[in-house]
Amino acid sequence: MDTGLIDRVAIVAASSQGIGKATALSFAAEGAHLALCARRQEPLEALAREISGRYGVQVHISSFDVSDDLAVRNFVNSTYQRFGRIDICVTNAGGPPAKAFLATTMDEWDRAWQLNLRSIVSFAQAVIPYMQQQQWGRLITLTSYTVKQPVPELVLSNSIRAGVMGLVRSLAGQFGPDGITVNNVGPGFTSTARAEELLEKRASDRGLTVDQIKKELLAEIPVRRMATPEEVAAAILWLASKQAACVTGQTILVDGGAYRGL
Ligand SMILES: NC(=O)c1ccc[n+]([C@@H]2O[C@H](COP(=O)([O-])OP(=O)(O)OC[C@H]3O[C@@H](n4cnc5c(N)ncnc54)[C@H](OP(=O)(O)O)[C@@H]3O)[C@@H](O)[C@H]2O)c1
Repeated sequence: MDTGLIDRVAIVAASSQGIGKATALSFAAEGAHLALCARRQEPLEALAREISGRYGVQVHISSFDVSDDLAVRNFVNSTYQRFGRIDICVTNAGGPPAKAFLATTMDEWDRAWQLNLRSIVSFAQAVIPYMQQQQWGRLITLTSYTVKQPVPELVLSNSIRAGVMGLVRSLAGQFGPDGITVNNVGPGFTSTARAEELLEKRASDRGLTVDQIKKELLAEIPVRRMATPEEVAAAILWLASKQAACVTGQTILVDGGAYRGL
């Protein structure tokens, strides 16, 4: 299938490992040039070398925290200066800590808002004017299946990410006439470092082993396994492709059927 992504320019945030990295690799395999960021420089450099060696596309990297609004705007502007266009922006960041509601602090609420909602506002405000110039754009937020089905110990994620859904629907309505689609991808448990961290936390909270927790978790997922980062990346890639031009304001879950609602 021709996805129409050859020579498109894609920003993939928080992409040095996990789902972000798999997304960067999938765009590169389709011939898109990339702008990648994360806090640590070294893994980004290694990934940029791997991608340009394997796929021959150009890769721009920058290390910063996505909750730093000015750093996000500088990154977006430097991406535009380097490539002369920005077609796709995939927002991403680390997840907030897993904690029971009464154990959360106000600092953690502030941090979760900055990391998982305000950072998306920073990216969207910076990339949309460039996309408007082109009358073409794809903004894709990476959140969690918790936007549809709250998970008890993820109250920070459950609450803050719900706001992303409101933002996605609002921007889809406002910028559709400019040829810009705005969608959200919500992974369920996906085999990355983040999932390991959540399983370890759940195991230690309940005095069980990680294997016991994993068995219990998988029994609740109809496909009886976690998603792979590549499977989540495939949904993001499709939303960026020319085939998805008429899809906007949507949330696609890649959760093995864990969400039980209609
Ligand atoms: N894996 C799952 O089961 C799962 C399920 C539902 C939702 N999610 C969500 O999906 C997103 C990606 O998860 P993942 O599993 O791919 O996580 P991961 O493997 O832990 O990777 C997180 C990536 O984000 C970067 N990052 C973290 N905080 C950052 C920050 N403040 N600024 C810039 N970059 C940052 C990390 O690099 P640096 O450390 O170098 O910054 C890394 O590249 C997270 O929001 C997670 O909560 C994951």
